[in-house]
Amino acid sequence: MTEDARWLSGLEEQARARLSAPVFEYLAQGAREGRTAARSVDTWSSVELHPHVLRDVTDVELGTDLLGTRVGVPWGVAPTTLQRAVHPDGELAMARATAEAGGVMVVSSNAGTPFSLIGDTGVHWWLQAYLPADRTLAVPMLDRAVAAGASAMVLTVDTPVVGTKYPAGDVVWDVVDPALLRVNFDVGHDGQPGSDKALDLGPHDLDWLAEHTGLPVVVKGVLRPDDAVRCVQAGARAVWVSNHGGRQLDRAVATATVLRHVIAAVGKQAQVYVDGGLRSGLDVVAALSLGADAVFLGRLPLYALTDGEPGVARMHREVGLQVVETMRLSGCRTPADLAALSAPSAPNRL
Ligand SMILES: Cc1cc2nc3c(=O)[nH]c(=O)nc-3n(C[C@H](O)[C@H](O)[C@H](O)COP(=O)(O)O)c2cc1C
Repeated sequence: MTEDARWLSGLEEQARARLSAPVFEYLAQGAREGRTAARSVDTWSSVELHPHVLRDVTDVELGTDLLGTRVGVPWGVAPTTLQRAVHPDGELAMARATAEAGGVMVVSSNAGTPFSLIGDTGVHWWLQAYLPADRTLAVPMLDRAVAAGASAMVLTVDTPVVGTKYPAGDVVWDVVDPALLRVNFDVGHDGQPGSDKALDLGPHDLDWLAEHTGLPVVVKGVLRPDDAVRCVQAGARAVWVSNHGGRQLDRAVATATVLRHVIAAVGKQAQVYVDGGLRSGLDVVAALSLGADAVFLGRLPLYALTDGEPGVARMHREVGLQVVETMRLSGCRTPADLAALSAPSAPNRL
């Protein structure tokens, strides 16, 4: 099997050509002027690798441990809304292809597919949740996720309000069938008082979520070392460095810029994941080389989903081929070997 790097880099254009303008714009857009969205992509290519030589790279192993569970690859699928507007098979196609690749799928609480069907694919999956002002309104949805086999809760904390976008034409919400999203909430949930996103999230919510679900909590949307430390002190098992793909606070820092500082602050007390602007296997390696325990892809698998399950399967395959080649060229045999490849320790003296 050989890699076709042009296929991965052509995915955005393929999605633009295949999707209606409002759906494509929903996927690609950033908040306001889109500065963070654009910078997040660019910054990964400025991460320089310091490859080792004279190391046996015959056998390369991609598996790694996430929250105490072995997974097949160190990248996963980030939670994204409206997968069924991209392809009718939506989350099911994403789940089947990701299960086959051995990755983790993080399912958006806005998903358009019942959690039970996603669980039935056998994919290793975590639920992403936003908490509403009245926390108790989230309980039926959370319980459905636990019953369907979610093995972690990812609490998104960067969205007290939805960041403003400047649409070029029709807005997706005016054209998309409402049946394509939020099918795991009780009927009538969104009209109830207290169903808006919480403006008062705090560290105590991590406790509440962990206690209610009995699952490890990952906090998604952290960009500062001091906040990462607060999350860990509040019981987070992992901190997910994210600027929401530049869709929330425009001018927020690129994740590649802050990742190393967050890892230094958290130390070994929790895992650190990252997303935002990763578009290739080389970007995945760049993030792992800064010390991330895992990397998540948002738009890349969404763009690949325009080809349904085979598209997402091919995306995983092409990313994997790039990662393996890059590991061999860097003298690395495991994801752990990659850590610190962008910051070598001082050379030993003879
Ligand atoms: C179309 C779209 C929908 C998204 N929906 C959600 C969501 O429901 N929940 C969430 O926590 N993040 C959501 N995100 C953010 C992603 O989880 C992730 O942080 C981001 O896409 C990573 O950047 P990338 O797209 O450049 O890879 C969404 C992103 C996109 C592009």
